[in-house]
Amino acid sequence: MSTSIKRADIIFAPYSEAPYHKFKEIITTVTPEYIIDELISSELRGRGGAGFLTGMKWKFARNAEGEIKYVVCNADEGEPGTFKDREILTKVPRKMISGMGICAFVTGAKIGYIYLRAEYNYLRRDLQAELDIFHDVCKEMNFNFHIEIFSGMGAYVCGEETALLNSIEGKRGEPRNKPPFPTNEGLFGKPTVINNVETFVNVMIICRLGSAEFRKYGIHGQTGSKLFSISGDTPRGGVYELELGMKIIDLVNEFGDGNTKAVQVGGASGFCVPRAKFEEYTIGYPSKLTGDSLPTGGSIKFFNSKRSMHHVLENFLEFFVEESCGQCTPCRVGTQQLLKGIQQIKTKSVSPLYLDKLYELAKTMKITSKCGLGQSVANAFCSIADEFKEEIIY
Ligand SMILES: Cc1cc2nc3c(=O)[nH]c(=O)nc-3n(C[C@H](O)[C@H](O)[C@H](O)COP(=O)(O)O)c2cc1C
Ligand code: SF4
Repeated sequence: MSTSIKRADIIFAPYSEAPYHKFKEIITTVTPEYIIDELISSELRGRGGAGFLTGMKWKFARNAEGEIKYVVCNADEGEPGTFKDREILTKVPRKMISGMGICAFVTGAKIGYIYLRAEYNYLRRDLQAELDIFHDVCKEMNFNFHIEIFSGMGAYVCGEETALLNSIEGKRGEPRNKPPFPTNEGLFGKPTVINNVETFVNVMIICRLGSAEFRKYGIHGQTGSKLFSISGDTPRGGVYELELGMKIIDLVNEFGDGNTKAVQVGGASGFCVPRAKFEEYTIGYPSKLTGDSLPTGGSIKFFNSKRSMHHVLENFLEFFVEESCGQCTPCRVGTQQLLKGIQQIKTKSVSPLYLDKLYELAKTMKITSKCGLGQSVANAFCSIADEFKEEIIY
């Protein structure tokens, strides 16, 4: 049975108080341990896509040894179909900057970076003006924390946290091996918290509302709200704040064009859900209650029955071929072979049975690729090729 979506309005809610009033109140009235406990009990998960528990990440960084630590905000927003961080950066940057300040308070970091997608450079002047206000407040309070804006390098892979850190260090934007994780060895080898733009905003929301109130948002065991970038075959594309945990069918009823045949959850690196399974899947993070939950950094793409799923898959694979950094063989060669393979199947220059070999290749890439880019190609490939086989081998 369907549950229907629930809208929320906490991320963009305006506040009338003086700039950074709440930030000041928090760092003067509660302890870092209290904030970590609140984040853990809120069950806030990173909004950049991977969904790691934010409270745990901050705890690891706080406990990591070393005088020098960093806070990094991932504003690279490179996943195809994601455009929700831009809304935050435009409308409520103060909440995000406050969240970074709280992180500095918790971890002891003195320097922060906003890694800003190159295409969002037009926002830089306004963001800097907002940072100037924040820095004045920090000075007034004798709170030693300074944030710089770093212009992104225009590659999808630079959104991967360790590639991003290399990029800030002036190196090629190539992912590093993990472990070590950034909370222990991050920017310039020092303990670093790296979070998505929306995650930092959620930290401020939890500090303001309290974890118990925050947990009231969310359906089916999920906690909090999430920004979704709705695009594709929909009459109502845009950014919407919804409670986590809704079923795909509810999204389709709300945003579909009446002819939706598939929904791609999580962009090119996410999963494709066909009409027959709209009732089955929910949007959120793995939980006992939700069962088959699909995470997303925010991208939700609708495809109606006029779309060729072969074309959709070809498009995603061209993207991966272009964006693979080439550092490891499974991803560099695998993406090219998958693309070539489905093109050959289309032109009938290989047997349709070749698709089985391509599945095997995608699955091998999942376990042998060095970073999330190569590891996630199989998500889109296997879900589209499985569910729309008749369109791939026609
Ligand atoms: C290829 C690739 C691209 C990514 N791009 C982004 C991005 O643009 N923004 C983002 O927040 N996370 C992105 N991530 C996820 C980051 O590696 C990391 O998990 C995230 O910044 C952590 O923040 P969170 O815990 O707040 O989600 C990407 C991951 C991969 C593998
Ligand atoms: S998986 Fe792809 S993007 Fe990631 S390191 Fe390997 S080649 Fe680079």
